[in-house]
Amino acid sequence: MPRQGAWSVYVHFPWCLKRCAYCDFATSVADRIPRGEYTAAVLAELEMRTAAIQAAPVATVFFGGGTPSLWGARHVGAVLEWIDQWAGLRADAEVTLEANPGAAETGDLQDYAAAGVNRVSLGVQSLHARHLRWLDRIHDAADALAAVDRLLEFNAAGRLRSVSVDLIFGIPGQTLGQLRADVAALVDRGVPHLSAYALTVEERTPLHARMARGEVRAPSDAATVRQLMALPGLVASGGLLRYEVSNFARPGHESRHNQAYWRGDHYLAAGVGAHGFVPAPQLCGVRYANSRHSGQYIDRIAQRQLATEFEEPIDAATHATERVMTGLRTAAGLDLAALESIAGPAVVDRLVARARDRGLVGRDVVVVDGHLRLSEAAWPRLDGVVRALA
Ligand SMILES: C[S@@+](CC[C@H](N)C(=O)[O-])C[C@H]1O[C@@H](n2cnc3c(N)ncnc32)[C@H](O)[C@@H]1O
Ligand code: SF4
Repeated sequence: MPRQGAWSVYVHFPWCLKRCAYCDFATSVADRIPRGEYTAAVLAELEMRTAAIQAAPVATVFFGGGTPSLWGARHVGAVLEWIDQWAGLRADAEVTLEANPGAAETGDLQDYAAAGVNRVSLGVQSLHARHLRWLDRIHDAADALAAVDRLLEFNAAGRLRSVSVDLIFGIPGQTLGQLRADVAALVDRGVPHLSAYALTVEERTPLHARMARGEVRAPSDAATVRQLMALPGLVASGGLLRYEVSNFARPGHESRHNQAYWRGDHYLAAGVGAHGFVPAPQLCGVRYANSRHSGQYIDRIAQRQLATEFEEPIDAATHATERVMTGLRTAAGLDLAALESIAGPAVVDRLVARARDRGLVGRDVVVVDGHLRLSEAAWPRLDGVVRALA
């Protein structure tokens, strides 16, 4: 069973100023964002979803998107107040807000901090004009750096506990030197947490269509792997360490919210397209996903119905497989004792035997301190190793 001393809550905000070419998240552009109606719907969903579960103090809240920095501090504050009244927001809770350069002003930041946000994750993606244009971002590099500097000042003044920046690598035409320069500009400024994602070309995105028409090149696997392998060296001067395949932090700045996902804890989720994982009798839990359409979501909730689009029962075997997948993506590796408590000793024995029989031990994985861990050289083969073991 997942550990449940405290809750994590994910809240999705599904609007952006402009749709980026590569993005497949539940988000859209609207002439008028119905902020008040949306807040009412999210609070009503939380009310319905929590009716059947046991309250426990909330350790992490993540406002993701879309662009939740467009929601407004009043609305974000109302959600945090609701959560606090439901089960108590822990005094040391990590409360993250995703923001885009160009979609959060200085005044807003003060208001968000006053409302309870203590960590901001800023989507910079690149600091090169050509790549920002290729990705269809609304901001340029100067906007992005100004936003980073503002956040770091806020952080230094004790108004935030941490700041994270997102980058995308593996962009066609992006050189290792360009990625090095982007990372250096960020870590030299003192950014304590960096998420660096390899560009994925998702179906049904404008980028996918452009590639299918031959208008743009596909990402190069070789260049992407070179950049993936170089990242730990690029962030080292800032004291950041890789703690998950795409995430780097100075000690103490790791995202506690994401760590809860990777451990397999239960978490509540509310909002358009949000995915949650909650306890269920005889099971490890139930995973659910909400409708990705904001109109449908708001209408259904107004009728006092959940806007669940799918539900999946998660039994011990499925949960164990998911733990292998997420555990191997972390630098610490898969906690074999935790896996044993979910799935029993036979599953752990079979997993270690499979790794040995397939010749992975020593080359792709190592067993250290009760953890099955990917070896440094195997990061580019992560997906294949997971497929061989999960
Ligand atoms: C869904 S976005 C929300 C944050 C914010 N709206 C933004 O764009 O900065 C979260 C992060 O996912 C990453 N992302 C989204 N789509 C991606 C893709 N197709 N390939 C790689 N990274 C992607 C970006 O780095 C982005 O910052
Ligand atoms: S990447 Fe961010 S800003 Fe761009 S469309 Fe997706 S959620 Fe919106």
